[in-house]
Amino acid sequence: MFTTQFRHMSDKTINITFHEYSSLKELAPADKALAEAAIEAMQGAYAPYSHFHVGAAVRLSNGVVVKGANQENAAFPSGLCAERTAMFSAGANYPDKDMESIAIAGGVHGRLAKAPATPCGACRQVMAQYQTKAGKPMSVIMVGDGCIWKFDRVDDILPLIFDSI
Ligand code: THU
Repeated sequence: MFTTQFRHMSDKTINITFHEYSSLKELAPADKALAEAAIEAMQGAYAPYSHFHVGAAVRLSNGVVVKGANQENAAFPSGLCAERTAMFSAGANYPDKDMESIAIAGGVHGRLAKAPATPCGACRQVMAQYQTKAGKPMSVIMVGDGCIWKFDRVDDILPLIFDSI
């Protein structure tokens, strides 16, 4: 039987701080521009199955903004989220530049949702690795209509990041 000498369990809490805005006008100019680029990028969505249009925009260390949108396919797993479309495009076209920030927007039939667009787990993992590659925080801006969340680093949306490199 267990005895008290094995009772070493203790509860831990992870706290996450993020910033909430009620209008794009409240964002710093570069973040506002990136959020607007993510909304624009929704127009590039190809979503004949889900009808959920997602746009993403990555800001690089040289100020260039790279956009992406979700691309669906009849063979469902062959499609790709907006965030990874943007990040892979940025990585492929600007391999020497750091990704400083990514903004995400989405909504049914291309109409921006009220709730901020929260990235899927696979996209968070990809963000984490580009952040590691850059060696400095990548902020994540989730855009909704009348509600915007900004997280200062990927760690804040993917605690206990897997990192083998
Ligand atoms: N989608 C994204 O583009 N990003 C996410 O973070 C979550 C989901 C896309 C995938 C699919 O085309 C559609 O949204 C519905 O799931």
